[in-house]
Amino acid sequence: MQGLDAQSLKSVSDEIVQAVDAAENLEALDAIRVNALGKKGRISLLMRELGGMDADARKAAGQALNIVKDQVAAALEAKQFVLPQAALNEKLATEAIDVSLPSRPSREARLHPLSRTIEEVLAIFAEMGFQVAEGPDIESDYYNFTALNIPPEHPARQEHDTFYLPANADGQRKVLRTHTSPVQIRTMEAKEPPIRIIVPGRTYRSDHDATHSPMFHQCEGLVIGDGIHMGHLKGCLIDFCRAFFGVDDLPVRFRPSYFPFTEPSAEVDIGCTRDGGGLKIGAGDDWLEILGSGMVNPRVLANCGYDPEKYQGFAFGMGIERIAMLKYGIPDLRTFYDSDLRWMRHYGFLPFDAPSIHAGLVGGAG
Ligand code: DAH
Repeated sequence: MQGLDAQSLKSVSDEIVQAVDAAENLEALDAIRVNALGKKGRISLLMRELGGMDADARKAAGQALNIVKDQVAAALEAKQFVLPQAALNEKLATEAIDVSLPSRPSREARLHPLSRTIEEVLAIFAEMGFQVAEGPDIESDYYNFTALNIPPEHPARQEHDTFYLPANADGQRKVLRTHTSPVQIRTMEAKEPPIRIIVPGRTYRSDHDATHSPMFHQCEGLVIGDGIHMGHLKGCLIDFCRAFFGVDDLPVRFRPSYFPFTEPSAEVDIGCTRDGGGLKIGAGDDWLEILGSGMVNPRVLANCGYDPEKYQGFAFGMGIERIAMLKYGIPDLRTFYDSDLRWMRHYGFLPFDAPSIHAGLVGGAG
């Protein structure tokens, strides 16, 4: 029968395999497959012709046709594998970028001075063996106040201008944490001494003016161990202040103060001068308050299940915005949250310029 002789079958096979080789994409390949092997495809139609042949001829033609079918199927399968790779290679070639080229200055991102300041604080305390700890922004009243020795009706509660969330089913009202100190409690509940943690995070108070923002950042520190005393607190914080501000002989003063969660408590001031209108940090005739600190109140230790006879510790807390403003000469707190790109270009930092003690922490802004 015409069409099923060896010569014709070979040319059918050659023709289809050539088309497969030439196919440029998967859609074209699929069309070739349908035209060859689909219900009404060329090979399928030839198969149907077998029915009209006598037995011997049918056997020979059938075998020959199956070989053609296998050749075509193999060619299709191979091409199906190759095509996506070719497409990918082309994409890689056309979309290649030279990552070693310098970036365009106009597109360079900047790291926010608050992020930078947090990184600097962490770098200094990491060097002293502190671990970073974090806690939730939404806190229970217990962690934010009571466990820190600020019982209900304590006057310190009023000073915190707390944001309260609506009461839940059991009548409890969660709060947006007013300080990072609750992470002290969470850490002491979870671990046994020795503890040396540094806790950066967001804090919230209902207060908004040139020097207060309803959301701001604090960094908390806690050290607990056997035989920890006020000398450790002083040494640690003096070293921190000098490293952070990059002034080796920076005067640091501990001024008696009061916090419910520490006893005794001290506020930490650094030396400065205001001669000539500008503020200069370093030896001078004036002082700037930058930190709250103290020896952890034995009641707080007991609230966390520690034996105050056995363990002592010190804690401290500082406002990140405040120390960033002082270090980098940023005059207005509100500009931190304006997302003003010109401000970011001026005060921001190059993202790959990570702070480290050895490289120096006093890299200039911008
Ligand atoms: N939590 C205090 C505040 O928000 C700051 C503070 C003071 C934290 C003394 C401390 C500390 O851990 O010992 O004002």
